[in-house]
Amino acid sequence: MIIKMAYQRTCMLLVSMCICYDCSSYDKRCDFNVKKKLATCSWLTYIPRFPEYVTAIRFTNNKFYVINKEFMSNLTKNNITSLFFISNSIQRLYKNTFSVFPVLKSLIVAKEMSLNVTDVDMAFVELKSTLENIRLNGNGWTYIPAGMFGATAFRNITKIVLSKNNLLEFSFKEVANLLNLDTLDLSGNKLTSLDVLQPVDVKKLNVNGNKIVLLPSFCNSTDRTSNLKTLTALFINDNALFELKPSLFKCLPSLKTLQLNNNKLNALLNNTFNVIPQLIELHIQSNNIKIIEPTAFKSTSLQKLNFGHNGFRFDDDGRFNQVNIFKHVPKLTHLDLTGNFLPGGYKPLKQMFSPLQSLTSLNLHGTNLRELPSYVFCLLRSLQRLILQGNSLRELKEGTFQNMTNLQYLNLQGNFIHSINPSSFPMEMLSRLKELDLSNNHFSCTCDIMWFRDWLRNKNKTRPILLNFPNRYICIYPENMHGKRLIKYNPTKDICTPWNQLYTMATILSSFAFITITLLLIAYRCHANIRNYFYLFRIHRLRRRGYIRLNSSEDFEYHAFVVYCDADREWVHSILLRKLEDEGLNLCIHDRDFDVGASIAENVDTYLQKCWKIIVIMSNDFAKSEWCQWEVDFVQERRRQQGKDVFLLIMLKTINSNHMTCPIKTLIKTTPYLTYKNGAGEDLFWKAVIDSIQKPLGNPPVAM
Ligand SMILES: *[C@@H]1O[C@H](CO)[C@@H](O)[C@H](O)[C@H]1NC(C)=O
Ligand SMILES: *[C@@H]1O[C@H](CO)[C@@H](O)[C@H](O)[C@H]1NC(C)=O
Ligand SMILES: *[C@@H]1O[C@H](CO)[C@@H](O)[C@H](O)[C@H]1NC(C)=O
Ligand SMILES: *[C@@H]1O[C@H](CO)[C@@H](O)[C@H](O)[C@H]1NC(C)=O
Ligand SMILES: *[C@@H]1O[C@H](CO)[C@@H](O)[C@H](O)[C@H]1NC(C)=O
Ligand SMILES: *[C@@H]1O[C@H](CO)[C@@H](O)[C@H](O)[C@H]1NC(C)=O
Ligand SMILES: *[C@@H]1O[C@H](CO)[C@@H](O)[C@H](O)[C@H]1NC(C)=O
Ligand SMILES: *[C@@H]1O[C@H](CO)[C@@H](O)[C@H](O)[C@H]1NC(C)=O
Repeated sequence: MIIKMAYQRTCMLLVSMCICYDCSSYDKRCDFNVKKKLATCSWLTYIPRFPEYVTAIRFTNNKFYVINKEFMSNLTKNNITSLFFISNSIQRLYKNTFSVFPVLKSLIVAKEMSLNVTDVDMAFVELKSTLENIRLNGNGWTYIPAGMFGATAFRNITKIVLSKNNLLEFSFKEVANLLNLDTLDLSGNKLTSLDVLQPVDVKKLNVNGNKIVLLPSFCNSTDRTSNLKTLTALFINDNALFELKPSLFKCLPSLKTLQLNNNKLNALLNNTFNVIPQLIELHIQSNNIKIIEPTAFKSTSLQKLNFGHNGFRFDDDGRFNQVNIFKHVPKLTHLDLTGNFLPGGYKPLKQMFSPLQSLTSLNLHGTNLRELPSYVFCLLRSLQRLILQGNSLRELKEGTFQNMTNLQYLNLQGNFIHSINPSSFPMEMLSRLKELDLSNNHFSCTCDIMWFRDWLRNKNKTRPILLNFPNRYICIYPENMHGKRLIKYNPTKDICTPWNQLYTMATILSSFAFITITLLLIAYRCHANIRNYFYLFRIHRLRRRGYIRLNSSEDFEYHAFVVYCDADREWVHSILLRKLEDEGLNLCIHDRDFDVGASIAENVDTYLQKCWKIIVIMSNDFAKSEWCQWEVDFVQERRRQQGKDVFLLIMLKTINSNHMTCPIKTLIKTTPYLTYKNGAGEDLFWKAVIDSIQKPLGNPPVAM
């Protein structure tokens, strides 16, 4: 049972195969494509039978030598619409050969180097079908026989390709009567001129890769009408054109595309292209242009201008006019300046580009830009694509991409940009950008790049697509990161803690302010202590230097005579006396030590003799008291004799300025004084007082 089923299945399989492909009866040197109804045959010496569905046959690399109607007889059963002969070593093609194909639309005879063109011409005789396109390329023909395309078979032809022969000339008379001709391809021949002497209805004419040196006029020489009324595209790339006369392109009323790449043009003159009323696309790449006259590009219709690879010095304003060059192309949307030299600086770029208000695509690949001035590209309000690849840009200044809200594609590949930071691209531009290419730059993987690294890592949906990411986003600096991927840059956290210079400034300033305020407060609170301290410090210094001898008070009974007013008696008795006499100093106080009975003046005189020094206790009351004033005057005499060190002024309470009398003022000014300080600093005060009393006379001044 099982065996039987298996057998049936195999049988059905075999049967179905034989229905689809008549396996046995067709030549194995042919491949069949049922869907395309196409057969492709090689290594044959004859033309075999084909399945009936086949309508297109390609014969490549066969050995056919001689072809006539008889040789083709196996093809008469198929309705052949498409027939290709490529490299079949055909030597002879007999008259009327193609007449066996009543529905032929497309014919190729290519790379048949041994085939005489007159044979091909004769083979079309009596062909009843109307060909749509014919390709006769790479056959090494040097001419096309007169009347070849006059056969009825060509009456309705749309495309004739005669490329890669060795045609030395071509008469447009041959195609003058072909009313449906769309494309005539004469590229890759040896034509030296392009003389169209009669009206020809062709839409696309390709004469690329010939040896054309000068272009003729396309006008009828008598009535100045156009000979190429229907021409929409003219390709004259890879020729030897060295000059374009200003009116040359007149009489091309329908021309939309003109290509003049890779010629030898060295100047573009005024008004060369504005005589072409419908021109949309102009390609002048890879010439050797040195001069562009001010209105050379003038055109009210031009939309695309490709001026790449001319090495033109846009940085030399002797060769063109910055203001006018793009001023007269109001509709220009695409501009390609690849491989030229653009100027640096804001003004020249602004002058060149600012008229281009319709521009949507600008290609500045390899234009020698070292820096991008800010606020240039924002002049191009419609710009959607900007290519800055392969320049020498090192940084993106703030404002470079300001206001470019229409930009969708930005290519900065292959520059020397070392870092990207938030100011490089305005946020509103980044959010609308669709594609961004920053690959192959010289990224410096230091902390500066952390923002960019984080931005790259953050797969935000609003982020533009990053082209060539992450493979070509590579660190170049520093040495130890060279060649590593930027996305893998992982410095430790504390190395790159964001630290703003402003913080540093603020910290320094606030510490400075704090210290100043503290010092001022201390000075305010303790100014007396500070004075006292300095006083003491100087005495000590002098002592260390050997100026001060300690034993000089021994000739006197008292160490000091105290001058004070009655209001301060309490302090003198209870504090001053106690403090100093505890230190072993002997003080002379008038109401304790003076002799009873003697006059005050006498007493003062007597006791002053016995005192080594004079202590003056000063306060407001002291300043107010006339008696004390008298005492001061009196002791001043001593000072005149023995110098100011004989005095020790103690400011018990600061004297108000309205109580300052002239003598006191003089005294305070000329004599160092100590200020009494209660509480903190009191010890310092007493130490200074004691040291000052013990200080010998006649030493260098220690005034503050
Ligand atoms: C036609 O095809 C058959 C087999 O496919 C072949 O034997 C025969 O020679 C062919 N006829 C010619 C004229 O080549
Ligand atoms: C070829 O075309 C004719 C006319 O259109 C048609 O009658 C005939 O069946 C076709 N032959 C094949 C093999 O398709
Ligand atoms: C091609 O054929 C023509 C006419 O038969 C003859 O004049 C011409 O010399 C031939 N050309 C070549 C290259 O054999
Ligand atoms: C020529 O081509 C046009 C369109 O391509 C077609 O309408 C017309 O029938 C063709 N004429 C002949 C004679 O084949
Ligand atoms: C120019 O046009 C006139 C009138 O249309 C015509 O008679 C003449 O043959 C044309 N000249 C050329 C060289 O085709
Ligand atoms: C080209 O045009 C500009 C501006 O229209 C004019 O100043 C200049 O002289 C012209 N150059 C020549 C060579 O005619
Ligand atoms: C950018 O746009 C704003 C608002 O439209 C405008 O005020 C500003 O002048 C523009 N900046 C530049 C450089 O054009
Ligand atoms: C994505 O980007 C937008 C704007 O750039 C921002 O507002 C948003 O917070 C981002 N989302 C995340 C997940 O980072």
